[in-house]
Amino acid sequence: MFGFGKKHADLDKTLADKQEQVLAALNALPCPPIADHLVDDRVVDALRVDETEGGKSKRVVVEVVLPTMALKGKAALLTSIERAVKGVLGDVPVHVEVSSDVQPAVPMTNGKGGIPGIKNVVLVASGKGGVGKSTVASNLATALAGLGCKVGLLDADIYGPSAPTMFGISDGTRPGTAPSADPNKPMLVPLERFGVKLMSIGFLVDTQTAMVWRGPMIASAAMQLFKDVMWGELDYLIVDMPPGTGDVQLTISQQVVVAGTVVVSTPQDVALADVIRAKAMFDKVSIPCLGVVENMSYFICDGCDKRHEIFLHGGARHAAERMLVPFLGEIPIEPGVVKGGDMGEPVVHKHPESQSAKAFVALAEEVATALAKTAFDNPEALAQPTLSISGGSLQDQGKKPKKGLPVVS
Ligand SMILES: Nc1ncnc2c1ncn2[C@@H]1O[C@H](COP(=O)(O)OP(=O)(O)OP(=O)(O)O)[C@@H](O)[C@H]1O
Ligand SMILES: [Mg+2]
Repeated sequence: MFGFGKKHADLDKTLADKQEQVLAALNALPCPPIADHLVDDRVVDALRVDETEGGKSKRVVVEVVLPTMALKGKAALLTSIERAVKGVLGDVPVHVEVSSDVQPAVPMTNGKGGIPGIKNVVLVASGKGGVGKSTVASNLATALAGLGCKVGLLDADIYGPSAPTMFGISDGTRPGTAPSADPNKPMLVPLERFGVKLMSIGFLVDTQTAMVWRGPMIASAAMQLFKDVMWGELDYLIVDMPPGTGDVQLTISQQVVVAGTVVVSTPQDVALADVIRAKAMFDKVSIPCLGVVENMSYFICDGCDKRHEIFLHGGARHAAERMLVPFLGEIPIEPGVVKGGDMGEPVVHKHPESQSAKAFVALAEEVATALAKTAFDNPEALAQPTLSISGGSLQDQGKKPKKGLPVVS
């Protein structure tokens, strides 16, 4: 034998004897909003015994497949899984192994182009300029990446690209290229910072050049950033939209399958009127609104660390209620946010302990969990099966079938 403690030497047998009880205990746990039962819905995907590193002892491994690594309440869920296993088996070593299987929230079949490999395109938009779209988009993307999601950020603001500055990409840095099926049209390779794949018109042309472009040219350049980039497999592509409701917005809305829009607002009345207009535009092109986030909601003072309500905060929450869309949270005004943006490192990465960073992480969890819930409730949107040949037979590598007991080995 390997010398693991006698107490746990018979872990295989203990688990084999009690696996039905363990599964029942796991199935009875309260679920996150994306499953009815953890085992039946294959959130708990497998249960096994393996050796810890070095083979010194054994442990029970619970394989958990989440609908997103950014699931709201993830930590509590994983703790309750560990406790439930110990509740049946006693005080044995338990390791919860977590992976994710993100699904598209919106079917890829409504006439618009899905982008191969990208599960969910999320637009960050507003009716008005300067409310913090780029700040929200870059921190949302960085927060999702930090939580373990596969994320890209597309900066679609042709007149005023922000991603190069916000991610510290020095002037003149150009993305690489890679061959594609069409030898005359190589693909662009996105840059990468803080786990986020990045593409911006700012990497390709200078703002002066783009300033003289007419509407259709701009829209076509924005579309190239979607289609001619080797994004690879992404759970989420976050799109930093230009302000307002112009050509780019319309073209993207018409040509790309979009999972939803996060509308950014500040608390003032004038910005809220713009939110309502922005939502109306996306409604017209049947793009779901994931909700409204209030940016610069209140002020966190550098010196005293206190919260100061400088505007009548809460306006965006009321607007969301009026429009019957979720309210996604409040982001404080914090000097660190500006510094992070200017110094090329989003505040989520630079000062993860700050209140604004925590607010952005909470926003990331809200957005990802809402998309996961829509995908779960809407089986039509499941990933298209990906067929591959293995051992002479066709195998579906797409979504695994739901319902059924996990494999116990
Ligand atoms: N929560 C915040 N706290 C402090 N400063 C912020 C916050 N959000 C945004 N800012 C600052 O406000 C300014 C405008 O933000 P940002 O560029 O993100 O807005 P935008 O909506 O993308 O603007 P545009 O419409 O021009 O694209 C920036 O200087 C940014 O650093
Ligand atoms: Mg911007």
